Amino acid sequence: MSDLMGFMSSMSVCTVAFLLLQALCASSDDRLVPGKPLLPGTTVISDGGDFALGFFSPSNSTPEKLYLGIWYNNIPQFTVVWVANRETPAIFSSAPSLVVTNDTSDLVLSDATGRVLWTTNATTGASSSPSSSPRSDNTGSVAVLLNTGNLILRSPGGMVLWQSSDHPTDTILPGMKMWSSHKTHQGNRLVSWNGHNDPSPGAFSYGYETDPFIQPFIWNGSLPEWRDLVWTGFTVTSQQYFQANSTIVLYVALVSTVDEISVSFTVSDGAPPIRTVMSYFGRLEARVWNRDSSDWAILGVSPDYECSRYGYCGRSGYCDCTDAAPTCKCLDGFEPVDKEKWNNGRFSQGCQRKEAFRCSDGFLALPDMKVPDNFVRIGRKTFQECAAECSANCSCVAYAYATLNVSTENGDGTRCLVWIGDHRLVDMQKLGVRLYNTAGADSQETLYLRVAGMPSGKRTKKNTLKVLLPILAIVIVLTSILLVWVRKFRGRKTNMANQMTLMHGGYSTTTDELGREKKYQWF
Ligand SMILES: *[C@@H]1O[C@H](CO)[C@@H](O)[C@H](O)[C@H]1NC(C)=O
Ligand SMILES: *[C@@H]1O[C@H](CO)[C@@H](O)[C@H](O)[C@H]1NC(C)=O
Ligand SMILES: *[C@@H]1O[C@H](CO)[C@@H](O)[C@H](O)[C@H]1NC(C)=O
Ligand SMILES: *[C@@H]1O[C@H](CO)[C@@H](O)[C@H](O)[C@H]1NC(C)=O
Ligand SMILES: *[C@@H]1O[C@H](CO)[C@@H](O)[C@H](O)[C@H]1NC(C)=O
Ligand SMILES: *[C@@H]1O[C@H](CO)[C@@H](O)[C@H](O)[C@H]1NC(C)=O
Repeated sequence: MSDLMGFMSSMSVCTVAFLLLQALCASSDDRLVPGKPLLPGTTVISDGGDFALGFFSPSNSTPEKLYLGIWYNNIPQFTVVWVANRETPAIFSSAPSLVVTNDTSDLVLSDATGRVLWTTNATTGASSSPSSSPRSDNTGSVAVLLNTGNLILRSPGGMVLWQSSDHPTDTILPGMKMWSSHKTHQGNRLVSWNGHNDPSPGAFSYGYETDPFIQPFIWNGSLPEWRDLVWTGFTVTSQQYFQANSTIVLYVALVSTVDEISVSFTVSDGAPPIRTVMSYFGRLEARVWNRDSSDWAILGVSPDYECSRYGYCGRSGYCDCTDAAPTCKCLDGFEPVDKEKWNNGRFSQGCQRKEAFRCSDGFLALPDMKVPDNFVRIGRKTFQECAAECSANCSCVAYAYATLNVSTENGDGTRCLVWIGDHRLVDMQKLGVRLYNTAGADSQETLYLRVAGMPSGKRTKKNTLKVLLPILAIVIVLTSILLVWVRKFRGRKTNMANQMTLMHGGYSTTTDELGREKKYQWF
């Protein structure tokens, strides 16, 4: 009964009447079979009771629009996680119904006039998903709502012909996959609703880019709104959250195969409901059901700060999230293009170098960065080769390196990124401790930035040698003379030791890694 009260408080009067009807007629079955349609007012409830499939109507729609969707069945706040006909709502008076067709093994949503509003197309093989397979003879297929919130269409032989998790709307649930193809660069995306009560596709979407390398994005239409960290190579990460006396552990797994990458998250046993949603106002939110307050609490949000929005700080500017109040800063050795605008909080013009660098200048290590977008990936390089590659090319202004835990599509387990020209240094962040997010990753990312006056490793070596060799020669000559004069073995070992130290000092380079161990999140 308390569930019903919750529904009532969040929905319009006519929806409440509808839900009462639904509660009265609700079937407890977890599946649809041919010849048994799903009608408005009836639901399919997953075995376990966590999710329901049925028709719902957002409030204030006249004439009343009906959407086929999946929502949480056991929490007192009506929360839709999937919508089938988001672009083609049914009208209540047109008597829509959902059937599993006996001849083609499809789920078909149509109305009394016979108009098809939505269909799975499973049998046409049109599905781009890797987990669906073309059927042979699937007469007598069933649609089953799993207790994970996934609706599957299964052939009598047990083959999954179609599943709703391959076609997410704005929400991803534990166990579901975000994927992206290395070859076609296609993948699934979360697409926001158009408004609080409007499931039609909105402006914002979330997905994974694989070209030139793997990084997650939020887009506003076709423009990037936010970019996550470039993949540093982790395959499994976990993150702990504490809520109401219990610990929730969230695991993220990234699988990279020859064809595609896929990312999914799972939660520890007994964890409350968790979902990640691309909101209609442009933020990707990870939310957890809080049983004490009977509401969705936020675990993480992206973008988390104004200045972490894509390119907000302009060229060569970065969002400093180590500050209590994150704001834009210029990279070391850079200053605002227009100081007055910059000081008035208009950062879009970005920063420029205080002093132009020379081709012989070296690199400054900036630890804990979200490295810029617009990179070029150079394959099969060691860290030293990556540094040398950038150093040798005067257009190269920065580089970053990671050793991947797994090989990517072509068997290359290295990730050497270089930036050609200052204008490409956009969308950077100095990472603070990100307290919350959908997923965790231990990854250090150091950006090596070419700066005027920085000694380069190579040059130091050469110059030091130039100075050192004559000194060594003199030392050796003096030592020999000393040895001849003293004609004793005493002191010889000490001098040899000194020479070794000097030699070692002469060959040491300045390009050491300054990356600190630090935790931040990636999803
Ligand atoms: C589905 O097809 C099978 C085999 O052709 C038939 O036996 C069964 O009665 C049909 N079911 C319905 C609901 O039409
Ligand atoms: C099913 O296929 C038809 C024709 O190819 C297409 O117009 C329609 O959008 C597809 N529906 C879905 C849900 O993919
Ligand atoms: C998204 O893009 C639209 C149109 O380009 C723009 O009006 C709107 O302000 C953008 N919204 C956000 C949150 O960036
Ligand atoms: C690297 O891969 C191994 C197994 O392939 C896994 O056990 C380990 O957790 C991974 N490390 C990271 C940081 O993803
Ligand atoms: C958390 O623990 C406190 C003290 O043991 C208890 O009073 C409270 O009811 C617990 N809360 C939940 C949600 O279990
Ligand atoms: C520097 O690198 C860029 C990008 O890889 C390349 O187009 C350019 O020709 C290189 N310049 C030199 C002098 O090698």
